[in-house]
Amino acid sequence: MVKPVRSFTFLQHIRPRRIPVAALRFGATLCLGGISFLAFLITVGTGVLLLFHYEPGKQAYISVASMVSLAPYGGIIRSLHFWAAQGMVVTVLFHMARVVWHHAYRPPREKNWVIGVFLFLLTLILDFSGYLLRGDREGAGAAEIAQSLLRGLPGGAGLAALFLGSIELGHGSSLTLYVWHVFILPGVLLVLQLWHFWRVRRDGGVRAL
Ligand code: HEM
Repeated sequence: MVKPVRSFTFLQHIRPRRIPVAALRFGATLCLGGISFLAFLITVGTGVLLLFHYEPGKQAYISVASMVSLAPYGGIIRSLHFWAAQGMVVTVLFHMARVVWHHAYRPPREKNWVIGVFLFLLTLILDFSGYLLRGDREGAGAAEIAQSLLRGLPGGAGLAALFLGSIELGHGSSLTLYVWHVFILPGVLLVLQLWHFWRVRRDGGVRAL
């Protein structure tokens, strides 16, 4: 039985003094948490590049179309952004399944499981918000459905305005949604991920079977 690491300095955190050998085996994690984080980094990196061309609002659709056909490497960068985001959703799901399979949600890791649930929800919301930013008819239709669903909740009209802003079918994307997608959601996701990694060590490292 390896004692949980109780030191919190940065260096001791990234280079803990003891790691159970079994926890280093590929089969212990299938590297799924790490791959999810890599997908997040690729999404952020390509997203920053997309910002140089994308215009929220009425010009959204045209700016995306011209980015793909005119901007250097625009199509590749947009595809990478899209597929890294979809990849992240899939690997987070598999990572969650791996945690369940290994019973790693049990004490002392239950707090990290709860952080993970928020990571999962945020990943889905971030993915969905990106779809709404395209400014095409499908995106606007999906935004309208999200708007109606939110409005069905108590205080939902306020929530819909806070998250979606004003969305009209066929009139591009909303500035409110853009701010959530580009700044707030990735920022919160990053902070939660760093907390998640810190908790892995705090709970004694990955559960070695
Ligand atoms: C942004 C999404 C996520 C990232 C980047 C991430 C990353 C990681 C990493 C790197 C590890 C250590 C290695 C590994 O197990 O692969 C880990 C462990 C863990 N994750 Fe996640 N994770 C995410 C989402 C989730 C979700 C959705 C859950 C569950 C709801 C979750 C629950 C856990 C738990 C309980 C551990 C400890 C596992 C153990 O000790 O065996 N994580 N995570």
